[in-house]
Amino acid sequence: MTTLESTDLLSHSDENLPVWRSQLNAAPQSRAHVLSERIRKQESVLTDRLVKVYGQNSRVQALVQDLIQAAVQASLARSEDLWQLDLHRQAHPDWHQQGAVGYTAYVDQFAGNLQGITQKIEYLKSLGVTYLHLLPFFKAAAGPNDGGFAVAHFEEVAPTLGTQEDLLQLTQALRKAGISLCSDFVLNHVAQDHDWALKAKAGDTRYQNYFCLAKTPEEVAAWEKTLPQIFPDTAPGNFTFQRELNAWVWTTFYPYQWDLNYANPKVFLDVVSAMMRVANMGIEAFRLDSTGFLWKRLGTNSQNQPEVHCLLQALRALMEIACPGVLLKAEAIMPTQQLPPYFGLGESSGLECHLAYHSSLMAASWVALAEQDASILRSVMAQTPKVPEGCSWLSYVRCHDDIGWNVLKPDLEALGDTKHERLIEASQFFAGVSPNSYAQGAAFQTTHTRAVHGTNGMAAALTGLYSAHTTEDIDRAVDRLLLLQGLSFFMGGLPLLYMGDELGLANTTQEELVARKGPDGRELHRPYWNEDKANSRHVKGSIESRIFSKIQQMAQLRKTQAAFKGDADVTLLSNAHPQVLGLQRNHDLIGLFNFSNTTIDLKFSESASSVRLSAYQFKWLNIANDVAPTVLID
Ligand code: GLC
Repeated sequence: MTTLESTDLLSHSDENLPVWRSQLNAAPQSRAHVLSERIRKQESVLTDRLVKVYGQNSRVQALVQDLIQAAVQASLARSEDLWQLDLHRQAHPDWHQQGAVGYTAYVDQFAGNLQGITQKIEYLKSLGVTYLHLLPFFKAAAGPNDGGFAVAHFEEVAPTLGTQEDLLQLTQALRKAGISLCSDFVLNHVAQDHDWALKAKAGDTRYQNYFCLAKTPEEVAAWEKTLPQIFPDTAPGNFTFQRELNAWVWTTFYPYQWDLNYANPKVFLDVVSAMMRVANMGIEAFRLDSTGFLWKRLGTNSQNQPEVHCLLQALRALMEIACPGVLLKAEAIMPTQQLPPYFGLGESSGLECHLAYHSSLMAASWVALAEQDASILRSVMAQTPKVPEGCSWLSYVRCHDDIGWNVLKPDLEALGDTKHERLIEASQFFAGVSPNSYAQGAAFQTTHTRAVHGTNGMAAALTGLYSAHTTEDIDRAVDRLLLLQGLSFFMGGLPLLYMGDELGLANTTQEELVARKGPDGRELHRPYWNEDKANSRHVKGSIESRIFSKIQQMAQLRKTQAAFKGDADVTLLSNAHPQVLGLQRNHDLIGLFNFSNTTIDLKFSESASSVRLSAYQFKWLNIANDVAPTVLID
């Protein structure tokens, strides 16, 4: 395996005067002054974290200087608009904390291309969206590309989606509308036809050191011993033999996605430099894709290693220099217990990511729905720490990936279910194979009938909207869908909607699935936008208007109630009914979520009168006056 020892020295600038100092001397005074101050604050953190990863040596000192130089260069290249935005956000670090509502979509499926997204801004505004995550829109691998996550070029817009100019116009238009654009940045791997991989294949040893290569089958076997598999059915194993390299390249995901070797500091330098340049296109948040996998350690599952957090904190320090108005979001689909370090609450405490997906909460809400019991949610909430100031949980009901059940294994084991029976049952329930299931989803990467991995399907298909035959069935399905959104909008600092869920959009059609030909079951919940359904939101009493308007209402409440600030305290109410999850935000808001199909009366405090929740109903109450709470939404 390639290690730091086998990599070349980093290039040195003139030792007496780092290049960035002469760059600052030549820069406009106002920027130079601000940048010197930012560097003064961040340099020691940066050095400390990189020494922890790469050891105390002169190469690390050179690395730090090269990174600062890249940050200075990027910052000096920022447009005046973005430079001013950074200054404003530095002065108001909680700018993203109140009333945040997110939306995520594939560019082509939502709007054809980037210009089409510009046309959707009014729609997003009407829904209350403040944050738009567009799934990968930079140049992807030719051929299969994992929905764009096999990135062939970090900085070139995919020609099928538009041009650099389209992206700039879009970011400007979104900013005007008060919506921040979030872009994926895939840190863990590149496509096999990315320039670095091509050079490695052509024999360039500098670039061979950018990847994790195992030279023998024994070496592969030693690593595989403790590694889990992400796509066990369609991409088994974690290594792929490359004839040109006469070696096995580490490929955690698909064989065409080559993991980068962060033990080589040049990889960190090149990746971060690219990210800072991308920020200058007007990107206001980065989704750090697969971030838990960056550091490999023999004998472990090579996930969430301490070095990952040192690298992320070094990355944050650099962003604080180059573009402090930009948010970092950890996509670490890991058990709750592993998440606090992504907020900088781990061994090396400090600033890390502003946002992290709460995937356990998401998966647990689906289990609770299948079981009509809130116990697993309670257990997840009990493990969920308060986020540090300035950070927020990203909550969601569905996204472009499967509902991954594995994140809940530790929670179930703690509850005595060592065989994960409850997950197997939930998976069968949502695949629609359990008796009395209303769901129309499908199991993902679960060929062995008792193995459990993930579930695919759009929220409305999983909550029974498309198997409903009667008005009552339809009402129930709508209520289930809204219950899950109600919890996501209550719990998260940033609730994220997946395209179409605000209208109850159906699964991808069979014809379309056949046309896409791909083997990836996640296509089931990657349908095209449906304009007719969108228009139906204006028809009073329609399913679409019921879902859409409730979501609009929740988005509105998040803007007006101070307790929805992203870093507010969210605690579990202990006295709720077993089938009801009770949560409290700060002192004045409570949310009650009935996961059962029966009416439940409950008292959430001694002094309060009882509250009635019908089947699958949720209520948000303001309890500033706890004798006479006000119902905010029900
Ligand atoms: C992330 C993405 C997922 C992709 C994987 C590999 O988990 O959300 O869609 O397959 O990374 O890039």
